[in-house]
Amino acid sequence: MAVTETRSTTRKTKTPARAAAPDAIKLLKDDHRQVEAWFDEFESTNSGSKKNKLATQICLALRVHTQIEEEILYPACREAGIEEDMMDEADVEHDGAKKLIAEIEAGSAGDDHWDAKVKVLGEMIKHHVKEEEQRGGMFAKAKQADLDLNELGAEMKARKDELMKQSKRRN
Ligand SMILES: [Fe+2]
Ligand SMILES: [Fe+2]
Repeated sequence: MAVTETRSTTRKTKTPARAAAPDAIKLLKDDHRQVEAWFDEFESTNSGSKKNKLATQICLALRVHTQIEEEILYPACREAGIEEDMMDEADVEHDGAKKLIAEIEAGSAGDDHWDAKVKVLGEMIKHHVKEEEQRGGMFAKAKQADLDLNELGAEMKARKDELMKQSKRRN
């Protein structure tokens, strides 16, 4: 009896977060639109300080975004039977982006090849986002699969908030 009571308490505490959070796909698409806007702003400014600020925002957002996908959505997609080839390709694209993100974070506006690195990162992300969002892409397959996108969205939102808080504490 005691076990049952514990379980129902656990479930109750989960409900509010679930109701407030966007579904997994909406949350990730919103992130995609946000970084796209920042990449566009980066392209249209000549100010070094603005470029530094935008690059910092982009790199942080992408680190958190790729991490919540890798920790929560991608494993769920693999478990739901989405093609291994598609998931492997996404992993490799994340790894490529992370290498460039580290190089961008280690430099700043005015450094040799720094602008080009941000531009190429933008192109890599554009390609990767297309693979996730296009017809027949990963997100479409996730919607067709037997996945609880609300539950995954709530989990990702909570993890995202936690990671953002950690990064603010570090700065
Ligand atoms: Fe994504
Ligand atoms: Fe991704």
